Amino acid sequence: MSINIFYYSGTGNSLWIAKKIAKEFKDVHLISITNFNINNVNNDADYTGIVFPVYMWGVPAPVINFLDELKKIKNNYIFAAAVNGGQVSNTLVQLHKKMQEKGMNLNSGFDFKTPSNYIPWGGAIPQNKQKKLFNSALKKIKQIIPIIKERKNLPVEKGPLWQRILFSGFYKMSFNHVHGMDKKFWVDEKCNGCEICAKICPASNIEIKDGKPTWNQKCHQCLACIQWCPKESIQYGKKTPDYERYHHPEIKLNDMLTK
Ligand SMILES: Cc1cc2nc3c(=O)[nH]c(=O)nc-3n(C[C@H](O)[C@H](O)[C@H](O)COP(=O)(O)O)c2cc1C
Repeated sequence: MSINIFYYSGTGNSLWIAKKIAKEFKDVHLISITNFNINNVNNDADYTGIVFPVYMWGVPAPVINFLDELKKIKNNYIFAAAVNGGQVSNTLVQLHKKMQEKGMNLNSGFDFKTPSNYIPWGGAIPQNKQKKLFNSALKKIKQIIPIIKERKNLPVEKGPLWQRILFSGFYKMSFNHVHGMDKKFWVDEKCNGCEICAKICPASNIEIKDGKPTWNQKCHQCLACIQWCPKESIQYGKKTPDYERYHHPEIKLNDMLTK
């Protein structure tokens, strides 16, 4: 049983889920959507998975853009995993609609709750709480594998109605401003010019000038730069100097750099 799993990930939660799903299949192509090469894709896989984080209560722009590529390959059964910090909201409904507009069908869509990486609103949650979320995610993977393997068509999972109504509006309002939100990044004196931020940025948005990173308003807000900086020298707004950094504990920098 062959599967293409496409993933997008800033801090490794989605990559970790994608890898765990991949383990349940034999002939697996695990493909980063930011480094998409049609030649690496099995054009007749039995299953296609899309694993990505929820951004601003919806689908991140790179995932929406990727759908035009997805359309070019033969997809027999498509499922999605919307990886989030607790509020999946309308994300999978939105993805389903976008796919239908492009002549594709989303056969099933699953909500995965993980630690939030949104550092502008706070640092990493305690490790025992992280572990609980990872264990629940592992249990859920066991539950969804038979659904996928049996090619079940299910309504996509979604948040409560109030959340979907309220936050779909926020998503629409913020979508066109995301690329410029990198104006709030700055770098403190701990920066040693290692350039990891530039290498890890999936949007190729960071340029090193005079040994320090600069951001070029093509940001996706994935927060990889701030969360993976080995010196914790990248900051966002005023509060992040006090916040603990987060990335998935089993995902290493090298896993992210082979994007
Ligand atoms: C820009 C941005 C917006 C986010 N918006 C939401 C959201 O609307 N709902 C939610 O539950 N989590 C939200 N999060 C948290 C992420 O979805 C969550 O931490 C996810 O696991 C990150 O996946 P990754 O490690 O693969 O990047 C947001 C994170 C970022 C960076």
